[in-house]
Amino acid sequence: MVLIEKNIENLGIKIIDKNSFILYLERNLTYLIDSIENYELYIIKNFYSKELILSLRYEILNLSQTMAQGIYSCVDGCPDYWRIHTSNPTANIDKLIKAYYFHNWNKNWYLFSAFKELFEIKNILSTNVGENQSQTNSFQDIISRIVVFQYPRGGGYLEEHTDPLTVFSKVQIAVVASEYGEDYQSGGFYARHPKQDNETYLDGQTGIGDIIIFSPRLPHGVQYIEPDSCLNLNASDGRWSFIPLIVKSDYALDRKRPQKTRKICKLGK
Ligand SMILES: [Fe+2]
Repeated sequence: MVLIEKNIENLGIKIIDKNSFILYLERNLTYLIDSIENYELYIIKNFYSKELILSLRYEILNLSQTMAQGIYSCVDGCPDYWRIHTSNPTANIDKLIKAYYFHNWNKNWYLFSAFKELFEIKNILSTNVGENQSQTNSFQDIISRIVVFQYPRGGGYLEEHTDPLTVFSKVQIAVVASEYGEDYQSGGFYARHPKQDNETYLDGQTGIGDIIIFSPRLPHGVQYIEPDSCLNLNASDGRWSFIPLIVKSDYALDRKRPQKTRKICKLGK
C-alpha cells in the first residue's frame, strides 16, 4: 500500500513501506517499471535500520585511513579506494564530493552482503540478465560497485544530470545515509521532471535508512550543502548516500557517461 502520493511540479512521488514495496515487486512489476520509466520516484521508508547505516558510515571512515587514495580504472581486480572530486566547471558533471568505491572482489568487508537486496531489486526492475548482479565482474563488460558519496558541509554538491540507462540498470537506487537537520542544515538531493523548470527537493522527506528509486533519465542532482559553512573534508557529517551501481567497465569501448542537463549551476540557489 502506498502511504503517500504527491505530485510536485509534475514529479510524482510515492512514499511506501518496505513490505508493500516488495509486494509491488511481486504483484505489480509491469506497473512499477512503467511508473519509474514515466519519471515517478519512489521513497521506501526504513528499508534499513538507522543503526546499520550509521555503523557502515563509521566503518567507511575507519577504512579510508588505510584504503587506496586516487583514481583507478574500473576493471577487474581494481582496489577499493577513495578520492575527492573537486569542483571543476569544465568536468562532464561538476561536483564536490568525497567518494568511496567498493568492489565485490575485495572481500575484506561486508558492504555487498548488506546491500545484496538492492542489487536484486535492480535486477528485477531491469532485465534479469544475471542471477545476482552484485557478483558481476567483466561479464558483458559490466562491473558492480558500491559507491558512497559524502557531500561535505561548506559546499558539497553534484551538478544536475541524467545517468546512462542500460539493459542491466534501468533504475537508480540510493540509500539515504544522513539526517537532514542534523548532519547538515541546507541543500540536498533534488529531482526535476524533464518537462518542468523547477526542482523538487527531497531530503526533508527522507531519513536514514530510506531508499530512493528512480529512472536514470530523471534529471537529478545535489544542491550545495551548507554553502556558507567552512569546508572540512575530514569531517564525519555532511550528506551521505550509498549507491549500488552496475556500470560499464573501462574494458568497454562504448562506455556511456552521465549527461549534464543544465548549463548553469548557481551557488546557494
Ligand atoms: Fe546520478
